[in-house]
Amino acid sequence: MGSITLKDIRKSFGGVHVIHGVDLTIEKGELVVFVGPSGCGKSTLLRLIAGLDKPSSGAIEIDGRDVTRAGAADRGLAMVFQSYALYPHMTVRQNLSFGLENTRMPRSEIAARVADAARMLEIEELLERRPTQLSGGQRQRVAIGRAIVRDPTAFLLDEPLSNLDAELRGTMRAELSALHDRLATTMIYVTHDQVEAMTLADRIVVLRKGRVEQVDTPLNLYNRPANRFVAGFIGAPNMNFFPAVAEGGQAALPGGVQVAVAASGPVSFGIRPQHLRLAAPGEAGIPARVTLVEALGAETVLHARSDGDTDVLVVLEGQPELQRGQELALAFDVEHLHAFDAQGQRID
Ligand SMILES: Nc1ncnc2c1ncn2[C@@H]1O[C@H](COP(=O)(O)OP(=O)(O)O)[C@@H](O)[C@H]1O
Ligand SMILES: [Mg+2]
Repeated sequence: MGSITLKDIRKSFGGVHVIHGVDLTIEKGELVVFVGPSGCGKSTLLRLIAGLDKPSSGAIEIDGRDVTRAGAADRGLAMVFQSYALYPHMTVRQNLSFGLENTRMPRSEIAARVADAARMLEIEELLERRPTQLSGGQRQRVAIGRAIVRDPTAFLLDEPLSNLDAELRGTMRAELSALHDRLATTMIYVTHDQVEAMTLADRIVVLRKGRVEQVDTPLNLYNRPANRFVAGFIGAPNMNFFPAVAEGGQAALPGGVQVAVAASGPVSFGIRPQHLRLAAPGEAGIPARVTLVEALGAETVLHARSDGDTDVLVVLEGQPELQRGQELALAFDVEHLHAFDAQGQRID
């Protein structure tokens, strides 16, 4: 069990519309990530699903049951926050068991669940400590443990790793992924970090200003972004965009490189930094002048300004010898080019 359906969910706070009509179905067992810039409504949407807030209109179903008006406690979901929200005066063991103690669950069952969760999260030796005696990563493990012991229909996680340093975030991300495989419970994971979204998700929901921009698997979002916003948001460094004008099924990139496009009027072309390369002698390319070279060892990030004054990023393998001020031409394979119309929608 654990399918979740949102039907035309809207939410406003005091006349300010924050969620503008979200339709979404999350399948049982799926790990779905909500990603988008800060303030786009991720936490609001998660709180509506959790039952911590009520939508202004629309309906929420869990396993086919309408829970729109049901309280948080009646939804069988468990939430994990960025801030951990542990009880400081309780030990880890007490923090883990507290939520089960005011149910009718027998003490032996509670003890068994706490032991299971502690083993799974490798926090067994921390059970008698208090939260102040734990590192950030250990606290977040306890917060996740507190959700696990409840054996919820689904886990709702709101930026759970954002307070951790980059290295620990990477480790915890891998652990969460393994945990999801093992529990096979539905998870909704909120983050503003597209790398976290790409590495964790079965499917990603890209949100912007309270609207869903695209829902798809990580690689489909990367390979076929539905619009310029998704194209620019998914993938690091960000995609390069070149403005152009299409006429008679053709448009010119800076330097006169002609490409076919099924549109007329203003369009833009997107190409990822990894999909540009230095043109071979005689090969057509976008003329550009190098403004900065960042040699990272395994790869080199080239900042350049193209004809037409567009800033361009290029990620090159290895350690090519390049200098600031150097003039060069950037070539690409046409299948890596993404075209967008004047409204920013993908053109195929
Ligand atoms: N309780 C609230 N009252 C008024 N405005 C709110 C409230 N909660 C969220 N908002 C507003 O809704 C928008 C979305 O917020 P939020 O869901 O927290 O974004 P995110 O989690 O994507 O960063 C923001 O503009 C925020 O200021
Ligand atoms: Mg948030």
